[in-house]
Amino acid sequence: MQSDLLSRLKNETAACHARLENALDLMRDDLQRDEYIALLERFYGYVAPWEDAAAACLPATLSVFFDERRKAPLLAADLAALTGERRPVGSVPQADMRYDLPRLHNLGDAFGSMYVMEGSTLGGRFIAPHVAQRLDLGQGLGNAYFEGYGARTGSMWNAFRETAAASVPAAQHDDAVKAAIATFEGLQSWLCPEAAGVDAMPPVPGAVT
Ligand code: HEM
Repeated sequence: MQSDLLSRLKNETAACHARLENALDLMRDDLQRDEYIALLERFYGYVAPWEDAAAACLPATLSVFFDERRKAPLLAADLAALTGERRPVGSVPQADMRYDLPRLHNLGDAFGSMYVMEGSTLGGRFIAPHVAQRLDLGQGLGNAYFEGYGARTGSMWNAFRETAAASVPAAQHDDAVKAAIATFEGLQSWLCPEAAGVDAMPPVPGAVT
């Protein structure tokens, strides 16, 4: 059933979403161009290797579905537009499969993790115009990643939801939820290590509380 998996993903990652949204604080009025560029570089460094890892976990029948959703090229175009290719994306530090990216072994993992990346296009509908206005960007010049699918955002999201619901067997719903949470947490640690560290800190053994 479609609602089962998608509503579990939404409900069980709501706290992760709120934490990441607050930590990024992209809707603030004093957002600076340099901060924005640095954030896009961090996004690129995560999204590019994540896309290769997620694609490798999907069957060939889903490769067109996945490829038309790739966002690393949009981030690369934004960075080129904003920096005039001063710093080529090839030199941007990339997240490490072994430590930073979620482990993706089955379809549940892959769709749970994709849920996070696809869902980000929904927030993008608010972020893209805000960033364009604050930083005085021309249409699609520097905010293409947040523009995402533009006018097709709603239909792409619905198609993602339908394909996820049809592809993930019920026995892998728990895996999907775990992968979505791991993706939110991994992304947060990668994008804002200072904010992530506080919650991620394990209790000190033997500490008096
Ligand atoms: C930083 C600023 C962000 C803001 C202001 C924001 C805002 C929003 C909003 C308003 C929605 C609901 C849109 C709708 O229902 O039409 C949404 C949904 C969502 N966002 Fe964000 N978002 C942000 C960042 C992110 C990031 C970085 C990610 C992940 C990479 C993310 C993942 C999601 C997901 C998965 C959903 C779908 C929730 C559902 O199942 O309905 N968001 N966001």
